[in-house]
Amino acid sequence: MNAQALHKLGYGMYVVASKQGNRLNAQIANTVFQITSEPATVAVSINKSNLTHQFIQESRVFTASVLRRETPLSFVGRFGFKSGRDSDKLEGVDYRIGKTGAPLVIENAVAYLEAKVIQEVDVGSHTIFIGNIVDADVISDEASMTYEYYHQVKRGTTPRTAPSYIEEKRR
Ligand SMILES: Cc1cc2nc3c(=O)[nH]c(=O)nc-3n(C[C@H](O)[C@H](O)[C@H](O)COP(=O)(O)O)c2cc1C
Repeated sequence: MNAQALHKLGYGMYVVASKQGNRLNAQIANTVFQITSEPATVAVSINKSNLTHQFIQESRVFTASVLRRETPLSFVGRFGFKSGRDSDKLEGVDYRIGKTGAPLVIENAVAYLEAKVIQEVDVGSHTIFIGNIVDADVISDEASMTYEYYHQVKRGTTPRTAPSYIEEKRR
């Protein structure tokens, strides 16, 4: 198998958020993608060790904010390299509560969507959550950040919990 082929897959960069009771949390994910248009559904692959995983499994709702291309690395670091178990990652961040009660991160976002989980698939280290979109909107006309841009231009890295971690280790 030529693992280099996996480097050719294209992704975006998203903040995926959820809630548990009145607790809120959010993390970076590159694995948000649309599944169907009618009804509009999306999926995301979330590591079982993440606090966000616990929150989505419990509340059955999640949101995804599409990051703008010039999102600072510090913002990605806040949500992608730290756990909500250690700090309130949303403190001081511009967000609002969506229709599902989950937070919609507005800061550095060009669009958002929120979904109710209709199915989850256990894939070992991760769970794929599939959700019906219940609301979505565009915030800005700025370009969105691709996973490639994050790596090639912003020189960002990816932690062990991301589905694409092994692929990156072989670079
Ligand atoms: C570029 C990038 C992409 C990531 N993609 C994913 C992903 O698709 N799924 C996932 O579970 N974690 C992904 N992560 C890792 C999580 O964001 C990270 O484990 C986070 O600290 C989890 O936070 P939490 O414990 O507060 O939920 C990614 C991180 C980065 C920096």
